[in-house]
Amino acid sequence: MTRDVLIKILDLVRWAPSGDNTQPWQFEIVADDHIAVHGFDTREHVLYDFDGHPSQMAHGALIETLRIAASGFQLASEWHVRSGSPDNAPVYDVLLRSAPDLLADPLLPYIEKRVVQRRPMRMTPLTSEQRNSLSLATGGNYSVQFFEKTSDRIKVARLLWDNAYIRLTCPEAFLVHREIIEWGARFSHDRLPEEAIGVDPMTAKLMKWVMQSWGRVEFFNRYLMGTVAPRIQLDFVPAIACAGHLLLKPRKPLNSLHDYVEAGMAMQRLWLTATSLGLHLQPEMTPVIFRWYAKAGREISAHSKINKKVELMASRFERLVEASSDQSFAFFCRIGQSVPPKSRSLRKSLSQLLVSK
Ligand SMILES: Cc1cc2nc3c(=O)[nH]c(=O)nc-3n(C[C@H](O)[C@H](O)[C@H](O)COP(=O)(O)O)c2cc1C
Repeated sequence: MTRDVLIKILDLVRWAPSGDNTQPWQFEIVADDHIAVHGFDTREHVLYDFDGHPSQMAHGALIETLRIAASGFQLASEWHVRSGSPDNAPVYDVLLRSAPDLLADPLLPYIEKRVVQRRPMRMTPLTSEQRNSLSLATGGNYSVQFFEKTSDRIKVARLLWDNAYIRLTCPEAFLVHREIIEWGARFSHDRLPEEAIGVDPMTAKLMKWVMQSWGRVEFFNRYLMGTVAPRIQLDFVPAIACAGHLLLKPRKPLNSLHDYVEAGMAMQRLWLTATSLGLHLQPEMTPVIFRWYAKAGREISAHSKINKKVELMASRFERLVEASSDQSFAFFCRIGQSVPPKSRSLRKSLSQLLVSK
């Protein structure tokens, strides 16, 4: 295989999803049959990157995308975490070998088409074939639980409504929100463009102004019901306006870096399969992440009132999905049909992502 082929593969691989479009990776072409993915995470400054797990899931999505992209060039891939590389900067060695009989993975055409849809979707129910394909996509180590009835979507909407209150009133989360949006943009190479976040232009203008300082956010939240418009538009309405919500549950608890990387691979197969079925998807990861905090006995905030709300939300989430308190949750999302979003996150260029070590 030539360097040219590796470049083509990596150019596709860039389109893997990551939380807030952080793209926590760099690529190194070590040899003609060897790519090293240098992963990192943002746990030091991003509240949502709990112990780096969302970044590790993104690494998994990336490695799975690499496998699928390589199959288009009759290349089989295998990967391992380089021994001695730290959890917060894991190096994934991906080895490629020629496999002339290998068929291109059927998910290959959807790598660039896959996109997050944060706007309301149609409520057309999933067909049993769609449900079946989505369940099979994640592989045998996970089960997929569906929440499709109107009453279930309303329950999820209420959970997300309260969860969003935590998100919007937590000063530690504000520090993240303030950095991740590229205001006035339809496309963004390294953040979320304003138009893709799912609020109307008036609310976006107001959010931009309010988010200049925590003082403004607090004032607005306290006296002007500032959380209401974003919560309606970003959480409540979309939770009802979809075909349903899906919870990806691992059959064994998630403990190690490896477990989260594999969960990310399953997530990416699910997402690409949804795309191949003409469906759109939006991750709803904050309740999952806040539950990770609660289960680990860790606090999201210096404010005890907020931490109490996180604990209550975690138990309510468990009751809603009828899960025991020791069941791990890997991925939660909503799914449905819709027109493709007009605005989306793009990616850093390959030259920005390629390094030589
Ligand atoms: C682990 C993970 C968690 C995510 N969590 C959320 C989420 O809670 N809400 C959301 O709207 N998008 C979420 N996303 C979607 C990312 O923001 C999105 O993939 C990224 O901005 C790139 O955009 P694209 O998927 O449209 O290419 C998540 C993605 C990943 C991989």
